[in-house]
Amino acid sequence: MERIVEIETFNVDEESSEVTLRPDAWNEYIGQEQIKKNLGVFIEASKKRDEALDHVLFYGPPGLGKTTLALIIANEMNANIKVTAAPMIEKSGDLAALLTNLEEGDILFIDEIHRLSPAVEEILYSSMEDFRIDIIIGSGPAAQTVKIDLPRFTLIGATTRAGMLSNPLRDRFGMSFRMNFYSSEELAEIIIQASSKLDKKIIKEASYEIAKRSRGTPRIALRILRRVRDFADVADEVDIEHERTKFALEELGINSFGFDEMDIRLLKLLASAKGRAMGLSTIAASLSEDEGTVEDVLEPYLLANGYLERTAKGRKATRATYDVLNMDWVSDEGALF
Ligand SMILES: Nc1ncnc2c1ncn2[C@@H]1O[C@H](COP(=O)(O)OP(=O)(O)O)[C@@H](O)[C@H]1O
Ligand SMILES: [Mg+2]
Repeated sequence: MERIVEIETFNVDEESSEVTLRPDAWNEYIGQEQIKKNLGVFIEASKKRDEALDHVLFYGPPGLGKTTLALIIANEMNANIKVTAAPMIEKSGDLAALLTNLEEGDILFIDEIHRLSPAVEEILYSSMEDFRIDIIIGSGPAAQTVKIDLPRFTLIGATTRAGMLSNPLRDRFGMSFRMNFYSSEELAEIIIQASSKLDKKIIKEASYEIAKRSRGTPRIALRILRRVRDFADVADEVDIEHERTKFALEELGINSFGFDEMDIRLLKLLASAKGRAMGLSTIAASLSEDEGTVEDVLEPYLLANGYLERTAKGRKATRATYDVLNMDWVSDEGALF
């Protein structure tokens, strides 16, 4: 099933046809304060020493600003950035070609880095650690290993599935940052900033109305903003008003908790267990998703907001789950309260 939030590749972006809303400097990048602060220090230090920045890993659910951070780092470092995604690097030769084309100080951004094949991953280790790769030329007894030195570069990896990275790969990142969901205040700020880039003002209450329904995720907030703006444009409304926004959200069928269809399916499934815990594999099979996607993409938002509980026996619906589904709460024993 298609979700509002899918893993996007950099080129396939909903923004390509229109004004870009992607911030390109720190002052436009709202929230994630700790990450900004730390990265700021590391960037300044490496600039002072005139060195390439250490390798960076960003992990967390889709749409929280990982790609955007990579682009801002490149800007701040005045570095060239090559953007690619793991599924595009099929053979070790593909990676070797990418690496040998880098110049001193360049940034290589690999999205969905958990999807690299083991053979490609292995080449990546040595390149990250020693800035050197060994390439085998020929086969059989005549095969030869050629060592190629690489310039000092920075690898920026992004993944929604940190759990799927092998330890050796994870260990070779000098810094790794977990992305957090955004508060309504932060999302409202992002929405207001974007609306001024779109040249269509949105009033504050309206921005909060969208923020509350955005699953803590800027990409979703911006997508909803564009649709609400369509409603305002069609109605010849100068600024995006509160009433219009509420109307549009209703028309778009966006519920007040910001859950999407997948969330609702998961919550209903958990609630159907009548207070008992359900194992991850059962959940994944019932939703036709793989376990990792359930764990790393679907669950974090629900967990963070108390709609899901992880226990030793599995996942459980909480009282809040039953409340949002308008169902009577059922406790462990299966008794109604
Ligand atoms: N902190 C932020 N401030 C402002 N806009 C943001 C922020 N984070 C993300 N965005 C916007 O949300 C969209 C999705 O961000 P992106 O970096 O592509 O997410 P990810 O790579 O984590 O999936 C981008 O278009 C960007 O404009
Ligand atoms: Mg991205």
